[in-house]
Order: sequence, then C-alpha cells, then structure tokens
Amino acid sequence: MNPIPYGKQNITQADIDAVVEVLKADYLTQGPKIKEFEDAFASYVDAKYAVAVSNGTAALHLCALALNVSEEQKVITTPITFAASANCVRYCGGEVVFGDIDPETYLLDINSVRELLEASPKGTYSGIIPVDFAGRAVDLEAYRKLANEYGLWIIEDACHAPGGSFIKTNGQESKCGSGEFADLAIFSFHPVKHIASGEGGMITTNDAALYNKLLALRTHGIVKNDNLYTNSVDFASGVENAESYPLWYMEMQELGYNYRLTDFQAALGLSQLQRADEGINRRREVANIYEKAFKDKDFIKGQSGVVTGHAYHLYVIEVEDRLGLYNYLREKHVYAQIHYIPCHLMPYYRSLGWKEGDLSNAERYYKSCISLPMYPTFSVEEQKYVIEKVTEFCNG
Ligand SMILES: Cc1ncc(COP(=O)(O)O)c(C=O)c1O
Repeated sequence: MNPIPYGKQNITQADIDAVVEVLKADYLTQGPKIKEFEDAFASYVDAKYAVAVSNGTAALHLCALALNVSEEQKVITTPITFAASANCVRYCGGEVVFGDIDPETYLLDINSVRELLEASPKGTYSGIIPVDFAGRAVDLEAYRKLANEYGLWIIEDACHAPGGSFIKTNGQESKCGSGEFADLAIFSFHPVKHIASGEGGMITTNDAALYNKLLALRTHGIVKNDNLYTNSVDFASGVENAESYPLWYMEMQELGYNYRLTDFQAALGLSQLQRADEGINRRREVANIYEKAFKDKDFIKGQSGVVTGHAYHLYVIEVEDRLGLYNYLREKHVYAQIHYIPCHLMPYYRSLGWKEGDLSNAERYYKSCISLPMYPTFSVEEQKYVIEKVTEFCNG
C-alpha cells in the first residue's frame, strides 16, 4: 500500500492545459482569468461579488481591514480552527476572544458566544468570525439574528466548505459564502482544500461598498475611476485647464497591500471549480463509508457523521487513545492529522493571557480528535485499508 495522506490535491490534464494556456498568453497576472474565476466562483456559492486574493490568510486580513477592525475592538472566534481565523484580528490590532465549541458539531457554540455578549456592555464586541470547520456549515441564520441584536458584523471563514450549505428555518438551502447572512466570507485554495490553486484565496460578499473597498485594498489601496479621484484634473494631467483625467492616471487613496492572485493560479482554480461538485460528491461517499464502518463501534467517542450540506474537507473521529492510533496508523503508512491544536493554547495566545481550562469543550476535543484521510481520489481499497487499521488498533 502506498502512503496515504489525510488530504491531497487532484490535478488533471485539463488543469495542466488550462495553466499552460495562460502561460502562453499575454497576462501572467492582472489579466482576464482573475475576473473569470471570480465570476464563476461567485455564481458557485450564490454570492453577488467575489475578490480573488493570494491566499486565505490575505482574504481574512483584507476582510478585517475592510470592516475597520482596530485596537479598541474585540472579535469572537472559535479556538478549533487554523490560527489565521484569529490572527487577522491581531493584524489590525484588535483583541481576539475565543468562544467554546459545541462538542457535537465541533463548531463555535452560539450559546457560548451569547454568554460572552451578554456578559459585557453592548458595543464591547464588533464582530464574529464563525468557521465552517471540517466542511460543516455554521447556521448563519441564527448567528445573524444574534449579531443584529448586538450590531455586529460577521466574517464567515468558509475555507473548509466551498459547496457546503445549511438548511434555513424556511426549509431552504443557504450556501456557504453566499453572503445571505454574513457580511463577508473567505475561502482558501491551498492544495488540501476542495479547489486548489497552489496558494490562493477568495472573498465573497453581497455588499457593493465592501466589494469596492476590497478591490482597492488588494492592490495597494489604488483606485482607477475618474469619479472617485480627489486630486484635480490639472494636477493629474500636468497642464492647466485640462479637460479630463489622462488614461495613465490612478490614485493610491489608502494604505493597501499586494494580495493579488496570478492569472495562471486563477486558471487552475477555475479549471478545478468545474469539477467541484464531482469532488464534493465523492467526499460525501467517503464520509458515508466511514459513518457506516464506525457507527456502533464502542471505541468511537464521536465522529463527523453524515450531515446534510457537509462539505467534508475533513473527516474527524474521536477515540480514547488518540496518540496510540496516530502512531499506529503512521507505522502502517496512513498519515492522519490533528485538526486543530486549540488556538487559545498556542504560545502566542497564551502570552496574551489564555490558559488551560478556559475552554473545556475545545480542550477535551483536542485530546481525542484525529482526522482520517478524506479526498476525492482516495480509493475504495485505500479506505477499506484505513478502516481496517483503525478498527484493528482500537479493538486492541
Ligand atoms: C479555517 C482556515 N482559515 C484560514 C486558512 C488560511 O488559508 P491559507 O492557508 O490559504 O492562507 C486556512 C488554511 O489552512 C483554514 O483552514
């Protein structure tokens, strides 16, 4: 049996052809593929606007900037996520407050968020960053209701869940990243994610003002629009009594960054997007097989299970001897992973005052969780082998 990782990209000849086509064309960056990818992605997640960026972390940073996160502000997120979900607040000088997770769904527990909000005067918090952890969609309808009570914005970290959804109270589906309830949503195109572009990210929104702000922030805060310029036409053109702004003219109106995606990355992302539904269906099949295999096994303390709308970036199980299972699987060339070491107990966040015992559900979860292999090209035989090894170890 070849080594089996926990996640893996799937690159086809069509992907390679799409990238090569861009490499032979006129634009390596700032060309037409970016908008093509953005439009196709926005339509995939049912959002109005999409902004392609260099990675998911840059997407989070730009969102925090666009929402004016600053030193006086507190933002709530989950500790069971990749550190970037929290770090974006710190980049802008804000304070991160971690809520606890729901031990059943592994998502940020809305009751824990409510408790935090109720414990402080209104205005203490400015926003919430819920994460569709492992691909399971957060119920953003409920979060929106709570956020409205306190005047908060929401950034949905949907890195694990392009194609995922939850069912609203009216029985209809709401897609991750649709912008129906969150102000902004972000995605990552790192190779282990559903759609890979090497490095890459996307922000989606339905808010035109935020969209325009993000476009400028992505490229140094530069604006190229005659109607928005603040310098005079005479200054811009370099002559007196000029009639219009010259074509070369642009203005840097605020401090932005270079967080652009290249056109060849966009071409890869776009090509991958064509197969996104195929990939998610395959992930759901894999989840079904795990669910059936582990359903009534007493060595399983918890598992991702089969959940409507789950995008299955990860398939997590919880077992008593997690370290033993991890090492045993490695010996058998199965490279499971742990998602995640709770963010609040990373030395950086400990240095800001967080300590063990602060978030009991997240800490308990960390002691038993392990992510089993989950990716579209994971074969039936490989999965059979993984299940056999997990069962063999856990049955002692
Ligand atoms: C939940 C979550 N948020 C943010 C990120 C950051 O994305 P990137 O690695 O593209 O910067 C990741 C990626 O690992 C992630 O899993």
